[in-house]
Amino acid sequence: MNLSETFHRVRNHSLHLCKNLITEDFSLQASEEVSPPKWHLAHTTWFFEQFILVPNDPSYVVKHPQFNFLFNSYYNSLGARTARNQRGLMSRPSVEEVKTYRGYVDAAMINLIGRQDSKIDELVTLGLNHEQQHQELLITDLKYSLWFNPLNPSVMDIQEYSAEPKSKWVNVNAGVYEIGYKDKDFCYDNELNPHKVYINDFAVSTALVTNQEYLEFIEAGGYENPTYWHDEGWAWAKELEVKAPLYWEQQDGAWFYYTLDGIKPINLDAAVAHVNFYEASAFASWKGVRLPTEFEWEVAQSQFEWGKRWEWTNSAYLPYPGFEVAPGAIGEYNGKFMINQMVLRGASVATSEGHSRPTYRNFFHPKYRWQFMGIRLAKSL
Ligand SMILES: [Fe+2]
Repeated sequence: MNLSETFHRVRNHSLHLCKNLITEDFSLQASEEVSPPKWHLAHTTWFFEQFILVPNDPSYVVKHPQFNFLFNSYYNSLGARTARNQRGLMSRPSVEEVKTYRGYVDAAMINLIGRQDSKIDELVTLGLNHEQQHQELLITDLKYSLWFNPLNPSVMDIQEYSAEPKSKWVNVNAGVYEIGYKDKDFCYDNELNPHKVYINDFAVSTALVTNQEYLEFIEAGGYENPTYWHDEGWAWAKELEVKAPLYWEQQDGAWFYYTLDGIKPINLDAAVAHVNFYEASAFASWKGVRLPTEFEWEVAQSQFEWGKRWEWTNSAYLPYPGFEVAPGAIGEYNGKFMINQMVLRGASVATSEGHSRPTYRNFFHPKYRWQFMGIRLAKSL
């Protein structure tokens, strides 16, 4: 598939994800962390406009002078912007106007892609990967916002809770391993540079922790025993009175969970989802084992199936040796977030096709759990 075809495929997929939404759904923002679908559709378009069209196409006229203010996410070098918690207040531009904006930018982009300039093509590929990240956020943000609606609307079926295989431990020998992206295709700057890491003997579970296992943790009083928890995690659980993963609801003694396909009885064989780092870590501690480091995960990943849940690792999100921040606004993409966040590896049921690889480093603050975050266990040997 050439770049123009990939461009159309990725851009169309964002709209496809919204096919069952009604107009009112497009502006939902249930918390500061989540963004409305309409904002995602516009922001990903703004990214192409600001980072590619404006600097590279002198004939391009921005669609609207205020869209930079409305749809800039976090790029300080591109100026002031709408407060993050106010993205849901944008009843204007309308959904139709945002779709028109997408078409306007797409037409200009297709022209530019036609030039076959490798520097521009590299940026287009970054823009498409950026859009795929937002496609996942669109799904997870929408799930969070719709969850507040007691009608439990069903808007898409992404097979959120399929059964896990039987788990076993796989041993990995100690040694020096090379970590990081080494191929020639696209990767994010945070996957560079490849470098060597020494790893001690360890074992990793071939399956993710299931709802059954997590329920055992709950029933064994896991949320009531501080010895399993980081101090910060314990404070989080107590302050918010957390007793189960996000989206779990108990009705007449039975557990249910909310999915984008409506509310369902819990599938005990499926991988637990929507737990944060504190919970993942407490669960591992209760089991007498631990989470893998991101390096152990990368070394072992060919020996198990992954892709249903982002897997919490016990690694802080830090730059690799030789990491360089790109000049200009694009340098704000990853580097400035390398503090107080933990790395997640793998991919999830909400990750767009073609947007995962063994060296991919996702990252979130330990308290967040609205992504499809799960648990894989490891132990030292
Ligand atoms: Fe973005």
